[in-house]
Amino acid sequence: MAKQRIGLLLALWLGVFVNPAEAAPAAIATAYPLATEAGFEILSRGGNAFDAAVAVSAALAVVEPSSSGIGGGGFWLLHRASDNFSTMVDGRERAPLSARVDMYLDATGEPIPKLSIDGPLSAGIPGLPAGLVHLTETYGNLPLATSLAPAIRLARDGFVVDEHYLKMVGYRLDALRASSAAAAIFLDRGDAPASGFRLVQGDLAKTLEALAEQGRDGFYTGLVAQQLIAGVNAAGGHWRTQDLTAYRVKQRTPVTGQYRQMKITTAPPPSSGGVALITALNILERYALDEVDDITRKHLVVEAMRRAYRDRAQYLGDPDFTQVPVAQLIDKTYAAGLAAGIRRDRATPSAMLPGRAKLQRGRDTTHFSIIDGDGNRVAATLSVNLPFGSGFVPPGTGVLLNDEMDDFSSKPGLPNAYGLVGAEANAIAPGKRPLSSMTPTFLEIGDDVAVLGTPGGSRIITMVLLAALEFGEGNKDPASWVSLPRYHHQFLPDVIQFETDGLSSAQQDGLSALGHQLKPVGRRYGNMQAIWWDRASGHIRAASDPRRQGLADVR
Ligand code: GLY
Repeated sequence: MAKQRIGLLLALWLGVFVNPAEAAPAAIATAYPLATEAGFEILSRGGNAFDAAVAVSAALAVVEPSSSGIGGGGFWLLHRASDNFSTMVDGRERAPLSARVDMYLDATGEPIPKLSIDGPLSAGIPGLPAGLVHLTETYGNLPLATSLAPAIRLARDGFVVDEHYLKMVGYRLDALRASSAAAAIFLDRGDAPASGFRLVQGDLAKTLEALAEQGRDGFYTGLVAQQLIAGVNAAGGHWRTQDLTAYRVKQRTPVTGQYRQMKITTAPPPSSGGVALITALNILERYALDEVDDITRKHLVVEAMRRAYRDRAQYLGDPDFTQVPVAQLIDKTYAAGLAAGIRRDRATPSAMLPGRAKLQRGRDTTHFSIIDGDGNRVAATLSVNLPFGSGFVPPGTGVLLNDEMDDFSSKPGLPNAYGLVGAEANAIAPGKRPLSSMTPTFLEIGDDVAVLGTPGGSRIITMVLLAALEFGEGNKDPASWVSLPRYHHQFLPDVIQFETDGLSSAQQDGLSALGHQLKPVGRRYGNMQAIWWDRASGHIRAASDPRRQGLADVR
């Protein structure tokens, strides 16, 4: 008995002190329970965080088709613990080689309604499949076929859709009906399905199998590529073989910043997210935000958002096509200049700041966060843009194409359909990546690490900002970051948008008195997935946004 107890103590001691890495738990937070399970399945088969990221990305493509998919793209922010290496894998869609700057304008130069959001002309060349292959080949432990197996199973066997699916189908019904292949998959005899609908995606399972067996050739050349091109071109798009064969992911150096004791590692261009996040934090670092009253705090945060979004619209675009002054924009001296124009007693009308911006409507998109037992991390934000992307599926592929072309400024320098304008930096060009707001982010204060991100279109950046401020002020509870009431300002339109519980009536009165315009958005937005980890003690917590039905777990 005594021997057994000594044996047990020894085992515990060995487990805890000799090889803590082996005993350390992993955490996964995703927008969909089946995707979280797919990630843990791959970890249990010997995969690392990067293999799990492949499994989660592919599973989300199947179970949350309104938000992301292999017909879309995304950004995977990675940290490899063994050599302290951070990078961002950019699997953003590219404009087809046939794209033209005025492709969504009529003969009089006016935007043609819906052309950049519905149907194959709105689709960029997908980057997600190339991203999965790159993650596996460069960072993973397992074969691609192993990591894709859960997604293939889910596509082939099907699953019962959730309420969010039904709501998003309703929102995109016309676009889905316009594509017979999409309607056959996502609708029920041409109508929005009812609760209990089982989504089976046989063609998508076959396409994922081709990817599993042949790697990037399984998607970008061969039968699937032929079907994609034939389907797009038969429905009015203009894709060439070279569009697919020439697609490559890019490894980008993340942008980094410092807010008090907190290090920020986040998404570089072609995302605007990281630059805008760091600009806002640099401005806010100049104020003792935790000491001012609540209305002043929100006023200052809004003024920082206003200035960061002004720069976003003015300067940001695909760095392979336009020179983006990242170093200047995230410089603290530059932020001091921006902060100098902020009055504590008065809102700055956006009209008083030079610049222009494009309004973005609410977008779908998804985010997940992973830390494995070795401390490898992934923050990934993936998208097809609007819910169900373009609504178009090239027959035989099961691949729902994105409508990410709408993230370009389709009419640079001139007012768009919403009375607002975008800048040349984000004008359409062949092979160019549209500007994104996706902001997968790592935050660190000493041994404390946060991994987070969210969907939400142009509001993504301010959601991450609000969570970063919490962590930066010592809040180590990810459940509270993801459930923070939200408010947002994006320079134009010149209003503070807020969730119903995002501002109390006293705060609304106080901000109005400072000259701010306020606009309740009438519903809750975002779907943040976050992890907190104490590198020293190994304590780890994960949280999924209470606004939706994701699953965060530690195992
Ligand atoms: N399509 C959403 C984004 O990239 O920001």
